[in-house]
Amino acid sequence: MKELYKGKVKTILETENPDEIFIRFEDKVTCGNGKQETHIPGKGTINCEISAILFEKLYHLGIKTHYIDRPESNIMRCRKVDIIPLEVVVRNIATGSIIRETTIQEGTRFYPELIEFYLKDDSKNDPLLTSDRMNMMGYDMNNIRLFKGMAHEINTMLKQIFDSIDIDLVDFKLEFGLTSKGEIILADEISPDGCRLWRKGTTESMDKDLYRKNTGNIMEAYQQILAQLK
Ligand code: C5P
Repeated sequence: MKELYKGKVKTILETENPDEIFIRFEDKVTCGNGKQETHIPGKGTINCEISAILFEKLYHLGIKTHYIDRPESNIMRCRKVDIIPLEVVVRNIATGSIIRETTIQEGTRFYPELIEFYLKDDSKNDPLLTSDRMNMMGYDMNNIRLFKGMAHEINTMLKQIFDSIDIDLVDFKLEFGLTSKGEIILADEISPDGCRLWRKGTTESMDKDLYRKNTGNIMEAYQQILAQLK
């Protein structure tokens, strides 16, 4: 299978169908824009499976996603899309970069959730965008409103899913893609690599912060999330 693109922890592969791709989840975890990287056997499979379960649940709740099926434990078959180079971050509880960059207090709860747009460009360090900047960059603001609406719906669904397994969904990142038919659908992955998940009612991380802050074993935490989601 020809490699089309190699990301930090995922590889995009060609399939026989020009409208479909494979996404291979690698046994790696990185942080600091790829500055730190660790090989973790089995991690790709766990993230692929968590993502597949969440995409399937969202699909059944009416969200259009790129996910088709999981032909191998660490490979997803997906609809081919052009990824929109925006990272849509949804925040329910204030932590992470919003604490470093503003005067908002750690642990502040947002009702409704805060939805923020960042430029997906590692060479520019993924900066926070404003509506005016997105407008000047040529984005159709109707699409930006559409992303916000979808992000709100997805948040409502994911919060319920995680709540049912005694996890608080603190924040997470989404990416959207454009199909050859001009449809905007949810893409990329949804896994503990791109979410903050706290044990309900605590600030105990069950996500990539364990690796970022070197405070615990991500495989144990991710395995627990997977087992509970199943
Ligand atoms: O770092 P920050 O607090 O802005 O991250 C918010 C959320 O978005 C976290 O769940 C983090 O894992 C996710 N994120 C991500 N990829 C990025 C930036 C943030 O998955 N490039």
